[in-house]
Amino acid sequence: MQEELARALRDAAERFGTPLYVYDVDRMTHDAQALRDAFGPPWIVLYSLKANAVRPLVCRLPALGYGANAVSLGELIAAREAGFEPSLTALEGIGKTERELREVIRRLQVGTPPLWVSLESSDEAAALAALAGNGPGGRGRIDVLLRVNPEVSPETHAGLAVGARGSKFGMLEREIDDVVQAGGGIDGPLRWRGVHVHTGSQLRSVTAWRSALASALRIRARLARRLPDMDTVDAGSGFPVLDEPGVPTPGDFAAVAAAELQRAEPPARLAVEPGRAVVARSGWLVGRVLHVRARDPRQVVLDAGMTELIRPALYGARHPMAALTSRGVGCTDSAGEEMTDADVHGPVCESTDYLGTHRLPALVRGDLVAIGQVGAYGASMASTYNARPLPRAVLWQDGDLHLADE
Ligand SMILES: Cc1ncc(COP(=O)(O)O)c(C=O)c1O
Repeated sequence: MQEELARALRDAAERFGTPLYVYDVDRMTHDAQALRDAFGPPWIVLYSLKANAVRPLVCRLPALGYGANAVSLGELIAAREAGFEPSLTALEGIGKTERELREVIRRLQVGTPPLWVSLESSDEAAALAALAGNGPGGRGRIDVLLRVNPEVSPETHAGLAVGARGSKFGMLEREIDDVVQAGGGIDGPLRWRGVHVHTGSQLRSVTAWRSALASALRIRARLARRLPDMDTVDAGSGFPVLDEPGVPTPGDFAAVAAAELQRAEPPARLAVEPGRAVVARSGWLVGRVLHVRARDPRQVVLDAGMTELIRPALYGARHPMAALTSRGVGCTDSAGEEMTDADVHGPVCESTDYLGTHRLPALVRGDLVAIGQVGAYGASMASTYNARPLPRAVLWQDGDLHLADE
């Protein structure tokens, strides 16, 4: 870790307390731009707000050409507050409530409909069509995508493999005709615009993603023969942030997409919806050591754990960790301290509140530790279990630290 960053994290902990999320704004902007460069026009790039909706951080994305992908009414509101164009904000998600579908209709009525609604099932199509009325009417129609389960074998943790056959994510190809009929058919209130797939997160290879895209392209071309507005394929995301050799870059995914598009009838509109690759590396969770036990390996308990960062407990995710102080004195990885293994735990009353084994210097109560790559699915998945308060968030930019909610 760079000394300047380590100093900022120490300062932030002293000023705002721990556990604390700190976001490196320049890092986020850099990673967001790199992804945008890999998927340049004509790709539509929708940021997945579920990864992180901290407004003063993600409000920088619309200026980089990003739209948003929201999966709840709360995220639709967060998208608007962060400055994403309503016409570039899609409503997706695994199950949409009546209230969420009504909000789509309300937005249509006031002339700011979402980019599209990605439908999961016949029930959802019928519910949206019923709210919209029986035909196009004067308000226009609602653009919808069909979220199809690509039935692939994603190269990732089972808990992240949403594109696997049998998962709850999306309809099967053979269910599509029923969904279109339930949604009012070709001339009903829904305008069938395209096919949406999402392979899974943290993909270690491009292979399953490529197959999912190929299926989406094939299905779209087939449906376009009878649904004339079918002009869109949304390839989802899955671009990984992993410290492992051989992990594919966004450019690798873009290259296989280009190859698949050569082999297919290309649709007029193409989209991806990254979350993790945009924000993960910008986030740090700073915790303080509460106690150390002389075991083999030693046991270190922090004031940060699964309530602030559930990914290790939920899917065994491994996050890098570095000490910011050792025996009360500032340090960095490169400072030459003797490093030994430590089993690092959080303070929550669950044995799965475990952050992994890490090489760390000597630690005593009060020392500071930083957990890396937590900008995605960190704070957005935080809970108040054990009646713990949600962690505060601080933004770091141009040498300045300020609270995200001020
Ligand atoms: C449909 C859909 N799109 C996009 C994403 C974002 O994925 P990632 O954070 O891997 O980029 C997810 C994540 O769960 C998703 O379910």
